[in-house]
Amino acid sequence: MTTQESQKTSQSDRHVKIFDTTLRDGEQSPGCSMNHVEKLEFARALSLLGVDIIEAGFPIASNGDFESVRAIATEITGSSICGLARSNERDIARAWEALQFAQKPRIHVFLATSAIHREHKLRMSRDQIIAKAVESVTFARSLCADIEFSPEDAARTEIDFLCDVVGAVIEAGATTVNIPDTVGYATPAHYAGIIRTLKQRVANINQATISVHCHDDLGMAVANSLAAVEAGARQIECTINGVGERAGNAALEEIVMALKTRHDYFNLETNIRSERLYPISRLLTSITGMLVQRNKAIVGKNAFAHESGIHQDGMLKERSTYEIMRPEDVGVPKTDLVLGKHSGRAAIKDRAIELGYHLSQEQIETLFVDFKTLADKKKEVFDDDLIVLVEKHIHADAPALWKLEGLHVVTGMNLLPTATVSIRRPDGHLVQDAAIGDGPVDAIFKAVERVTGVRANLKEFVVRSVTSGKDAQGEVNLELSVESDDRSFAGRAASTDIIEASALAYLNAVNAIATRRDRQREVIGRPGAGA
Ligand code: KIV
Ligand code: ZN
Repeated sequence: MTTQESQKTSQSDRHVKIFDTTLRDGEQSPGCSMNHVEKLEFARALSLLGVDIIEAGFPIASNGDFESVRAIATEITGSSICGLARSNERDIARAWEALQFAQKPRIHVFLATSAIHREHKLRMSRDQIIAKAVESVTFARSLCADIEFSPEDAARTEIDFLCDVVGAVIEAGATTVNIPDTVGYATPAHYAGIIRTLKQRVANINQATISVHCHDDLGMAVANSLAAVEAGARQIECTINGVGERAGNAALEEIVMALKTRHDYFNLETNIRSERLYPISRLLTSITGMLVQRNKAIVGKNAFAHESGIHQDGMLKERSTYEIMRPEDVGVPKTDLVLGKHSGRAAIKDRAIELGYHLSQEQIETLFVDFKTLADKKKEVFDDDLIVLVEKHIHADAPALWKLEGLHVVTGMNLLPTATVSIRRPDGHLVQDAAIGDGPVDAIFKAVERVTGVRANLKEFVVRSVTSGKDAQGEVNLELSVESDDRSFAGRAASTDIIEASALAYLNAVNAIATRRDRQREVIGRPGAGA
């Protein structure tokens, strides 16, 4: 920020709105799909985190998307609830239908503006683009007071034309103008330059909030977003764990902690309760099965680990020698021993609250039963163990079409590994079947396939220990693909028995495939498909 710019930054202009699009841009990326119950649960967590705007989905895309946006709009208060629409009346009317009961509804309309998109995708002239954008924003504004417009691929749009589009949609009633770097092409100085130019050249720019939306194809989404707020943008669109199309979107946790930790430099505020960042990151991993890399900033397992002797020595003498943020600032639990088999309900409930989870009485009761079972198998129950149990209960309501009720595995040297599974079918019947495989896990997967009839390819299979120790729970994350679908399906489960965890994780993913098949008939399109 130049000295002049920083002097101009008044008290009221210091707030940066955080717009979370995990449920829209994030959810449309491979391996990240969520069902209705999971989306609602995640929206509740976003609202508790303090995000200003939740982009809940793309209502025209399918009846499932519509229902989820409507449920979130109806239940969630505090945050604005936003739905995406292409620039046409049908999309916009459908978005409004889903959003109309929200306390603070927002319609987000988009239309591509770059020469590449105009010529090859839309086959429209500049004048036609402006006319269509204005017409759409005018219609959206006739329904809803809060309208965001995105010129898709703005970062590659000719700057003069971008200024014309932005001025025209503000004139038509847009209250936020978003400048997407749709393909992750921008660099920080280039992107900040676009924002400065809009501020200088668009006469009515002060009537709208400037928003930024960066993809991470060149690994610069967070840097670009921060450069843009230095140049005057006051809304950042981002996702938890940086999930999103291709390389993902800007990571919310990184943006928020950069603004907080370097407050001395940015002098900007957000409404985010930073101690909820780690729990919501875990929640997303647990819902989608998409693991966060160990060295990921803020929420990775190593983000606060100090390994080298020199660093440890410095830390013991004075934490600030090597620590710019404290783990507790982002809600990272201490890996202390917290509970044992004699711990009561109240201790478990308190610990879950301290870890950032809010459970109903019913969820606490079932959590307690599971805790006792685990405490019988494991002498020491750590925070990470408890998190795994809590997360299981948080989305216990998700549709589980098939349920594993029994498992028997025979394996060993010079033996054919054999698995027998008992699975409750969606119609309530208990079915038992068996299969042999290359190993015990392969045998289980084949037996599950025989019962469910879902043929899938295993693309990824990862087992990790939740905590240290020989009696630690093993967490299995796997990814399946099916021929008829370009999406992949994640499954995740934890148990002290990794064979059981493998079976549960596999059935999780199979349930996701079946749920998706139910929804598939309804899918009309996704952004980018002829938008
Ligand atoms: O990346 C993009 O351009 C988008 C728009 C729909 C805002 O996601
Ligand atoms: Zn995007």
